[in-house]
Amino acid sequence: MYDLSGRVGLVTGGGGGIGREIARRLAGEGMAVTVLDRDAAAARAAAAEINGLGVIADVTAEDEVSRAVETAIKRFGRIDLLVNNAGICCTGPALDMPLATLRAMLAVNVEGVFIVSRAVLPHMITRRSGVIVNLASWAGKTGNAYFAGYSASKFAVIGLTQALAREMAPYNIRVNAICPGIVVETAMRRALETQQRHYGLPQTAEREKSIPLGRVSVPADVAKAAAFLASDEAGYITGESINLSGGLLMD
Ligand SMILES: NC(=O)c1ccc[n+]([C@@H]2O[C@H](COP(=O)([O-])OP(=O)(O)OC[C@H]3O[C@@H](n4cnc5c(N)ncnc54)[C@H](O)[C@@H]3O)[C@@H](O)[C@H]2O)c1
Repeated sequence: MYDLSGRVGLVTGGGGGIGREIARRLAGEGMAVTVLDRDAAAARAAAAEINGLGVIADVTAEDEVSRAVETAIKRFGRIDLLVNNAGICCTGPALDMPLATLRAMLAVNVEGVFIVSRAVLPHMITRRSGVIVNLASWAGKTGNAYFAGYSASKFAVIGLTQALAREMAPYNIRVNAICPGIVVETAMRRALETQQRHYGLPQTAEREKSIPLGRVSVPADVAKAAAFLASDEAGYITGESINLSGGLLMD
């Protein structure tokens, strides 16, 4: 356990998958957690489970995000931790991918991180304290066939993480990213399985064989890393993009 009790967090995309597990973990560590999601029912259900606050917003809509952040601050007084987890993934041959699909990924995965961070950071700057954890991906460090758009968006998340880490360090705000490999038990992974079947790509069970630690990961693996980065135990870590891939990616 990390000493997070009494702190306040906001998790985007916290209504499902990895984000929901991160919200659970942070609440279990004693944090007051706001779950932000564009899926209203999911946000409410996830928040109810942890006695937190559910707020409805699309991370690509600045006005919705600023309203949601103000609601969270009104309820809990401040935000110590922002987890930019909301993301989408569409795969397919680069030559066939509609520009609209690429733009949708860039909007949620990159602009979304930018927009929510800019809504929260002024409050952290005033308090000279804060932590941001971004969900990137191993696809943000290496390109794989059929993942061109997604990979481009996650490389951008890592760039954004480093730039913000440097810019915010004088205010005692740390900014890091987690780069998961294959995380099962999420809607995104289930959709990817279908897409992989469609394109004749190896299925997860097959790809698992190439993971040095011998297993794919689950959302709880990511949540542990997020809790660590949120804690003072990680007080000297900023600008990092930490691989969480069981050895699938080493750099
Ligand atoms: N699952 C994996 O294998 C994997 C691997 C590496 C990185 N990631 C990253 O981890 C993060 C979470 O992935 P997941 O597998 O839990 O996905 P998921 O699809 O299971 O859950 C994503 C959540 O984000 C919400 N969301 C999506 N777009 C949103 C928007 N515009 N505004 C607000 N909320 C929005 C969804 O409603 C959902 O609750 C993503 O950033 C993803 O790219 C996932």
